[in-house]
Amino acid sequence: MKNKRLQGKVAVVTGSSAGIGQAIALAMGQEGASVVINYHANEAPAQELKARLEEGGGKAVVVQADTGNPADVERLFRAATDAFGTVDILVSNAGIQRDAAVLDMTLEEWQQVIDTNLTGYFLCAQAAAREFTKRKVDPEARTAAGHILFISSVHDIIPWAGHVNYATAKGGVQMLMKTLAQELAPNKIRVNSIAPGAIKTGINQEVWETREGSAGMLSLIPYGRIGEPEDVAKVAVWLATDEADYITGTTLYVDGGMTLYPGFSDKGCCGNGYKRQAYRQLLYRYACYQTGPLGRFQNSVNNFANFVRPLAAELIPL
Ligand code: BGC
Repeated sequence: MKNKRLQGKVAVVTGSSAGIGQAIALAMGQEGASVVINYHANEAPAQELKARLEEGGGKAVVVQADTGNPADVERLFRAATDAFGTVDILVSNAGIQRDAAVLDMTLEEWQQVIDTNLTGYFLCAQAAAREFTKRKVDPEARTAAGHILFISSVHDIIPWAGHVNYATAKGGVQMLMKTLAQELAPNKIRVNSIAPGAIKTGINQEVWETREGSAGMLSLIPYGRIGEPEDVAKVAVWLATDEADYITGTTLYVDGGMTLYPGFSDKGCCGNGYKRQAYRQLLYRYACYQTGPLGRFQNSVNNFANFVRPLAAELIPL
């Protein structure tokens, strides 16, 4: 029988009705953790996940909460302790994108993303830390009082035009994680981030499901494949185990090399590969443009050939 690495632990996973959060909640549950499945608006998949975990002999509860709202976060953690007595692992994952060019971005679009992707992480981490610090810990033991894991993004270091709210929140998550790791280390609380690259989920589906979009994405991924939620979930499980007891204040990039400046992979501006790279980037930009807010609402540039070919012709002498 498989050795269950999170047996006896309680994990709260925010935004776990879909995508990366769902894969993490499933993987942690399969490793023996009791799981608090949190959703914001979409209850059915959260209930399905609970049923799936229970069928496998696991324990789970489902709690609706908007993690950007302090009262909801309080209720989420109360529900967790009511159901399972305590919390050992927090995975702050709930996140949204509200993309717009900076010139058009509304204060609401800015605020919604900061509330969910940054303030929500702070609120959940604070609630978790309050719970973890109730425990007595042995400073010599190779086990933490609790683990806080932020699911961040490669955009905690890669700037992202057209997504200033998102990239700013993720940049903030990096410093939130490091500062909390520093502040809470004496309490034997570990705090880390996973920064996923392009992972196939609903958040970026409009891009990866088109041929141009997925080719463009792949041009940014040296390892040559778009990630799956399970790629992140496996790392999240491991980071929560005592095998990772000496890891705190770190971001693990699970990105197939997206943060390796792939534009420089063929000698940068000195080789020929930059032309191919530039062409693929154009395809990607076009796909993002087409599916993004500008593309949806402005029909003035909607012809692929007119948009790409003149530029491509300059870059790739035929
Ligand atoms: C975003 C995705 C994007 C990926 C790589 C993630 O944080 O949510 O939409 O594909 O970063 O750019």
